[in-house]
Amino acid sequence: MFETRLTDAQDAIARALSDRMATLGSDRVAEGMRYATVGGKRLRGFMVLQVTRLTGGDARAAMQAACAVECIHAYSLVHDDLPCMDDDDLRRGLPTVHRKWDEATAVLVGDALQGFAFELLADPVTGDSDQRADLVATLARATGPRGMVLGQAQDIAAETSATPLTLDDITELQANKTGALLEWPALAGAILGRADPAPLRRYARALGLAFQIADDILDIEGDAEKAGKALRKDAGAGKATFVSLLGLDGARARAKALINEAEAALSPYGPEAETLKRLARFVISRDQ
Ligand code: IPE
Ligand code: IPE
Ligand code: MG
Ligand code: MG
Ligand code: MG
Repeated sequence: MFETRLTDAQDAIARALSDRMATLGSDRVAEGMRYATVGGKRLRGFMVLQVTRLTGGDARAAMQAACAVECIHAYSLVHDDLPCMDDDDLRRGLPTVHRKWDEATAVLVGDALQGFAFELLADPVTGDSDQRADLVATLARATGPRGMVLGQAQDIAAETSATPLTLDDITELQANKTGALLEWPALAGAILGRADPAPLRRYARALGLAFQIADDILDIEGDAEKAGKALRKDAGAGKATFVSLLGLDGARARAKALINEAEAALSPYGPEAETLKRLARFVISRDQ
């Protein structure tokens, strides 16, 4: 069953992360790294595991890549929550890193998680040297100045932009901000299983956009307790979202169409891809 698969993967990723971080010390940055990687839905890690299973890649390498992408994701959240960014006090139901410790610690914890992710990918467990180089290069690209970081910058710029963003602008912003890091698991699985990345990327791209639309809808309609983070912030901050442009119903319809697109992209894989199809539907029906 899909729910059990996801819960099992969440537990396995949590164990693997804590195992990989056991070699770090007990200094404040290491403690903060452990703290920031607890909880969460583990969607990116789960996708790495599932896509690698689909392509017949090595499961141990997949777990290593799953830990790496979850470290990058956790870093992005620690920095996203900083007072100079979204200024949030709660993440995954716990005080944000800068609230628990201080801002300098949060900056360093984010930096350290980013470095640690690449250490994990460079480890011989993660594959042969070509595979590791590909994983490092593609994750660096997804995370950096042409990926997530660019999207975060576009998101902040949009708050004060004189002209409202168009649908194309928002699509591009979201594809960078959230999409790049949700597309990487598909690429990673294709690299590990030496498979054609094209259909997997099409799947992940559609899923990624639908995911961010769901996040924007949750910001308006969600329950903060369940989400484990403050909601109803986007409108006040002047965030450009699909909801601000299409309205709630329009955004919902767009997310649904994207999920159909994601499922269709997996048709070459037949019934073997059922879990990934379920994941796509989960992404827009979740309440956290
Ligand atoms: C939240 O991501 C931040 C966005 C990219 C919108 P998730 O909803 O995947 O967060 P966790 O990992 O489950 O906490
Ligand atoms: C966060 O987007 C995206 C990244 C961290 C790259 P949001 O700012 O919408 O995420 P939440 O709503 O705080 O989780
Ligand atoms: Mg943000
Ligand atoms: Mg935020
Ligand atoms: Mg949000």
